Amino acid sequence: MTSPSAAPKVVLGVSGGIAAYKACEVLRRLAESGHDVTVVPTAAALEFVGAPTWAALSGKPVSADVWTDVAEVPHVRIGQEADLVLVAPATADLLAKAAHGLADDLLTNTLLTARCPVVLAPAMHTEMWEHAATRANVATLRSRGVVVLEPAVGRLTGADSGKGRLPDPAEIVAAALDVRERSLSAGPVTADLTGRHVVVSAGGTREALDPVRFLGNRSSGLQGWALARAALLRGAEVTLVAANVSLPDPPGAQVVHVASTAELAEAVTDAAKGADAVVMAAAPADFRPVAVSDSKIKKADDGSAPTLTLTQNADILAGLARERSRDDQVVVGFAAETGEPGRSVLELAQAKLARKGCDLLVVNDVSGGQVFGADDNEAVVLGADGSSTPVPRGSKGALAHVVWDCVLARW
Ligand code: CTP
Repeated sequence: MTSPSAAPKVVLGVSGGIAAYKACEVLRRLAESGHDVTVVPTAAALEFVGAPTWAALSGKPVSADVWTDVAEVPHVRIGQEADLVLVAPATADLLAKAAHGLADDLLTNTLLTARCPVVLAPAMHTEMWEHAATRANVATLRSRGVVVLEPAVGRLTGADSGKGRLPDPAEIVAAALDVRERSLSAGPVTADLTGRHVVVSAGGTREALDPVRFLGNRSSGLQGWALARAALLRGAEVTLVAANVSLPDPPGAQVVHVASTAELAEAVTDAAKGADAVVMAAAPADFRPVAVSDSKIKKADDGSAPTLTLTQNADILAGLARERSRDDQVVVGFAAETGEPGRSVLELAQAKLARKGCDLLVVNDVSGGQVFGADDNEAVVLGADGSSTPVPRGSKGALAHVVWDCVLARW
């Protein structure tokens, strides 16, 4: 394994499906985010994308068999030295070989020798994904600690569509890096949220002024996406209510797209019925115009500007905490605070926690900079029971896992 200062070593396995071309984008994203990537394609993958493409993009020689550079024992060394093995796409055939421990090429040998986290991103036709043999192979792999991502739903090779599409490369890379980061801080990712239904809201709502204009905010949705991804990796059923987020849907989540605070309130309240936890990571607009113009508001000839009259939106989080559909439902809020004269960030956050009536409040101190759209976060998770869990500066994925740890502790 790599020393902490060196670039983490990632093995990108590519098996033989048409989605192999999307692995070029996975490789590019891994390399550009500072990873030392070795591509190990199968012979079938090389029918779709040739070795020169992998070699050029990774800056390393590429081989699919165990007979190249035998003196360096690559069939053992590549797996042993890896910090993360990611296979994208993983075909039904690759899943079967991995589940049964077959080792007839470099990639399957690497899967047997790797002791680091292993993430497989399947892609195949729906019939193959649903076949009893594949279901059993996926269950076997998951029971051994291999992370098998859910395929996306959408257009497949040819005219048909359904479940089995390779997830978006950005989402695959985010999930794989999340698994590695979590394993470094808390040990292997386990399916400890299995059987739980969680609801996450993300993004920023928009309040229409007229058919072309709105009042909005800068929330990117990244923290909500990280929460959904972490919960999915840990086996939960996830409903993600997304307000104006332009990120690809996390595969496996049920995603409900909304625009305004009223729509967000309706969708979250609906999804929360019977759910085990609700996490409000969205930034709902606090105010909306009293009236929405049916036609575009025009400039006046005399140079005057229109006066907007606003009214307050309902507080969704407070409503969820007040009217829980289950006594043991855990309700979580987020708060970005700057502090104010005479009142620290934590004092303001404690008051907000009590006012909202939720169980946990994730507090970001944003006085020194901004969090919207940033890749990392520093926070403290306050509990209504008086607990306080500091989360050091780190990725939104790392914070997401701590939030689920705190939720899990309350169940
Ligand atoms: N929230 C909500 N409904 C609203 C506004 C906020 O559910 N209409 C939720 C957010 O999703 C977040 C939490 O409340 O989880 C705190 O958001 P924040 O904007 O800090 O709270 P406000 O009540 O708007 O407080 P402030 O007056 O400090 O802005």
